[in-house]
Amino acid sequence: MKARPFIKWVGGKRQLLPELVARMPKEFGTYHEPFVGGGALFFEVRPKMAVLSDVNVRLVRTYRGVRDNVNEVIRLLKTYPHDKPFFLRMREQDIDAGTDAEVAAWFIYLNKTCFNGLYRVNKKGGFNVPFGDFKNPTICDEDNLRACSEALQTTRIVCGDFSGVLLRASPGDFVYMDSPYVPLSATSSFTSYTEKGFGPDDQKLLRDVAVKLKQRSAHVLLSNSSAGMVRELYKDFVVEEVMAKRSVNCQGAGRGNIAELLIH
Ligand SMILES: C[S@@+](CC[C@H](N)C(=O)[O-])C[C@H]1O[C@@H](n2cnc3c(N)ncnc32)[C@H](O)[C@@H]1O
Repeated sequence: MKARPFIKWVGGKRQLLPELVARMPKEFGTYHEPFVGGGALFFEVRPKMAVLSDVNVRLVRTYRGVRDNVNEVIRLLKTYPHDKPFFLRMREQDIDAGTDAEVAAWFIYLNKTCFNGLYRVNKKGGFNVPFGDFKNPTICDEDNLRACSEALQTTRIVCGDFSGVLLRASPGDFVYMDSPYVPLSATSSFTSYTEKGFGPDDQKLLRDVAVKLKQRSAHVLLSNSSAGMVRELYKDFVVEEVMAKRSVNCQGAGRGNIAELLIH
């Protein structure tokens, strides 16, 4: 069975997949995705060797839980009811003290039942997205979770800043970097994937990491918004504009078609 992302993630790349796949090298060594999020491209490509990473420790532990103990994740999810009081209790739980499987079930449950599948935390790391208005969400898609677990078996899953990819990527490897986007306007930023956000200095550092990867002959592909800053940062790269339909909109500029940039 084909695996699909087991969480809904802001900026998820499912509908840009054909455009991304078309820009991947035919052959490459290890696949690296240092802003893995929902991992849409990873699950589409199912590379033999991959290193997936993200700065969100609960997300990383969720991937490990699904990879290493999918039976327990499924068992737990089946005991979680879809109701608001239970959701509110889950939200308050000190989940970081749990096992990877418990973190995974917690993360997946909240993702399927919260408003728009958002992940947003307060300064102390507390999950603060309200209960969603879904009639009957699929909290436990057992077949897909098993397919994802299978796809993850040969992956290394690392928690940390994207710049760690420089320690791991070798010549001939492929690196896909789908960072938080540069906001299109001052009022439209969605940078709350983490407590810290992702500002202009991070965007510059990301460009520098991409340059270094290219210098060592790794294949690099990035996606970002069509903000002027992105075009400026990547003026020495190939920059292509593609249209994406955004339903959970990271730019806040309304729903519908929006131009995004693929950079290599
Ligand atoms: C646009 S999302 C990736 C979406 C993903 N491509 C998908 O298909 O779902 C960006 C991800 O970057 C992560 N992130 C934010 N700042 C980071 C950093 N400094 N280093 C690594 N990951 C970071 C967030 O936790 C989030 O999961």
